[in-house]
Amino acid sequence: MPATVVVGGQWGDEGKGRIVDLLARNANIIARYSAGDNAGHTVINHLGTFKLTLVPAGIFYADKTCLIGNGVALDPAHVLAEIEQLRARGVSVERLFISDRAHVVMPYHPIIDRLDETLRGPLAIGTTGRGIGPAFVDKVGRIGIRVGDLIDPALFKTRLQYVLAYKNRLLTRLYDADPLDFATIYEEYSEYGQRLKPFVCDTSALVQEALDRGEEVLLEGAQGALLDLDFGTYEYVTSSVPSSLAAGAALGTGIGPNAITRIVGVYKAYTTRVGSGPMPTELHDAVGAHIAERGQEFGTNTGRARRCGWFDAVAARYTARINGLTTAVITRLDVLDDLPEIGICTGYLVDGDDVRGFPANTALLGACRPRLEMLPGWQTPTSNIRSFAALPPRAQAYVRRLEELIGVPVAIVSVGPEREQAIHVRETL
Ligand code: GDP
Ligand code: IMO
Ligand code: MG
Repeated sequence: MPATVVVGGQWGDEGKGRIVDLLARNANIIARYSAGDNAGHTVINHLGTFKLTLVPAGIFYADKTCLIGNGVALDPAHVLAEIEQLRARGVSVERLFISDRAHVVMPYHPIIDRLDETLRGPLAIGTTGRGIGPAFVDKVGRIGIRVGDLIDPALFKTRLQYVLAYKNRLLTRLYDADPLDFATIYEEYSEYGQRLKPFVCDTSALVQEALDRGEEVLLEGAQGALLDLDFGTYEYVTSSVPSSLAAGAALGTGIGPNAITRIVGVYKAYTTRVGSGPMPTELHDAVGAHIAERGQEFGTNTGRARRCGWFDAVAARYTARINGLTTAVITRLDVLDDLPEIGICTGYLVDGDDVRGFPANTALLGACRPRLEMLPGWQTPTSNIRSFAALPPRAQAYVRRLEELIGVPVAIVSVGPEREQAIHVRETL
């Protein structure tokens, strides 16, 4: 069987964790392939409410294998705490594996993340402060420390001696900050390494063996395409290498791209964004406040308020293209239940003139105003509905219009955060 990728089609928090939890029932292996604990994936099922940052959202099925792939930047203290919390709540982590090639988020990474943000002043990105950007900078700069290094005490010592000397020069001479102590870090992180060791292996071989056996593999993306380093709203993006775009899934798990045949893009029925950067459909009025309130739009990870706005079909069509989506999923339709009318952005305007496509230029995107198409709201609760035909006709029309504009068939409409609050529009997943 082939591999399926689940990616975010907007600025993150589209409900990827919730959809992976749903789709994982048909998979044998579920793997996270990018980013780090800047991600926050909420899952609500029969076991309770969970906010996962590194462990794949397939972990709730005891018989499935879950992997943290080589593309992930792993904060060892954080993943160990997450594992402990899952165990304490009765979730088995027996079948969780971590790639020996994943990069380690070291204590200087969050420090540098915050110092960089301070230096940027008014141009701060609004990062999660988890050190993920600096960890990927080190990966590309070839001074990263990998999980395989961490679990080998002698190798870790040599590596840390060199890297920390370099980092301390940066901290003291560039940032005017205090240096970090080698012995303290070596002791603490060696211990993390030994605790992580039972989970560590060549995860790419596990995925390939599963594919060879004809098993189903589900690859869980983080963030959203508009936060991608190449195709997002640069420089207000995240720094994951490989990217969380579908193309990054093969690299981030170590399989060939030809194993991937289904690419599922998750979109909220409206738009949200956390952190700085342009967002053409942002609503600064009572409607934006209503969506934020009804949707409880606060970051899963950092608790920051998310900016809310109408569905941006220009951006959505663009992210469907750059991901090569085969299927779309619409989440949070229920959040729009009360609204008398709902807007969809079908084009961008600058000074009244049409803008073609999704601009690379951040200043131009910032100047774009949405051309809005207003659709009548359905003003009926949808959370308990389980078939597309049973949705109010105006809700059906809204979903159909989104589908038409995204340009990809919608397979699932989610009407609530719980596993079963899903409408299967087409049996393609
Ligand atoms: P992710 O990062 O893409 O996994 O998404 P997050 O978990 O950060 O944010 C999505 C939020 O929406 C979470 O609080 C989910 O529980 C919630 N959610 C997901 N799908 C639905 C839905 O259809 N309706 C409602 N009301 N909430 C949803
Ligand atoms: P999930 O997987 C929403 C945003 C941050 C910030 C920018 C850079 O839960 O959808 P970083 O700490 O990555 O350097 O911050 O990217 N960001 C996310 N926003 N959901 C996420 O992940 C995000 N991961 C990073 O808010 O604007
Ligand atoms: Mg999230």
